Amino acid sequence: MRVTTRIQVEDAEREVMLDFVRVTETAALRAGRWMGMGNKEAADQAAVDGMRGMLDLINFHGVVVIGEGEKDRAPMLYIGEHVGKNRSDEPVDVAVDPVEGTRLVANGLPNAMAVFVAAARGSLASPPAYYMNKIAVGPAARGHIDLNAPVRENLRVVAAALRRKVRDLTVVILNRPRHEQLIEDVRQCGARIKLISDGDVSGGISTALPDTGVDMLMGIGGAPEAVLTAAALKCLGGEIQARVWYPTEADRAKAEAAGVDLEKVWTTDDLAAGDSLIFTATGITDGELLRGVRYYGNKAVTHSVVMRARTHTVRFIEAHHDLRYKTVRSQKRQGEQRI
Ligand code: FBP
Repeated sequence: MRVTTRIQVEDAEREVMLDFVRVTETAALRAGRWMGMGNKEAADQAAVDGMRGMLDLINFHGVVVIGEGEKDRAPMLYIGEHVGKNRSDEPVDVAVDPVEGTRLVANGLPNAMAVFVAAARGSLASPPAYYMNKIAVGPAARGHIDLNAPVRENLRVVAAALRRKVRDLTVVILNRPRHEQLIEDVRQCGARIKLISDGDVSGGISTALPDTGVDMLMGIGGAPEAVLTAAALKCLGGEIQARVWYPTEADRAKAEAAGVDLEKVWTTDDLAAGDSLIFTATGITDGELLRGVRYYGNKAVTHSVVMRARTHTVRFIEAHHDLRYKTVRSQKRQGEQRI
């Protein structure tokens, strides 16, 4: 009986996983129009609108656990919102980032993408903070990182695991004043650094893919992004560790008073548990992982990745869209929208 159930679950995942790519494709097709327009809110709104409309065309039932914010602050894809066509099905957790790197889109910079994760109910975490301090690596260095260890030690151990010298490693770090000491420490050790202006999900994933030239992600970025990165690394066999981080002493004290464990190291499994998990992303602007959207009159081309944790399948999908047939229901505008 057990075996039968497992096969049924697997089949359900397999059937729906390719549908999920339409969710990020639609978000990317919408947001891509805003590339370089200097308006990150409009890019995000377009993607949210497209993603939300597409979700209700898919045969599943999801509950948003990572989305655009609390219900009173986000009209769509708010935390707790039910999405999908089959609302009588058992629900699954859904995590969305319609535009990961809104500033990247606004400025026409690389590595912006639309991201969607579906996972068994209760398996995606909601860390009690806006930011987390993270360290992430690909499969070859899995089991060789320790967020509590000094930077020097992590670099030494990861280099040994990769059979390289520290000076041959490249660490991706968000370019923020809060990382001044981290950057200094990595430089002192002689490792190379790739500073990114935004988009640490893409940075984290690139540690687990060949030919990106990136070996580690370090530093403080968004907490929801830590969950999305964990989901992707589950599929790719990598590892992330993260700890809540608060920008001010007052925020930190408030969190502590509310019972938040400030020292807890969240593992990949704490952030994204189990192996019933599907991750999809579509490039909005060109990046290491994915090409951005190309528009040719009535045609557009998207580049996506769909991954499944249970089987570690990684599919890259190039889709050629005829935009004349590409309409999605817009919740906000209560009608059909052309891309
Ligand atoms: P948005 O797409 O929501 O703008 O997030 C982009 C991002 O760079 C994330 O990749 C990263 O985790 C976070 O912002 C860092 O936050 P901050 O810009 O406040 O340092």
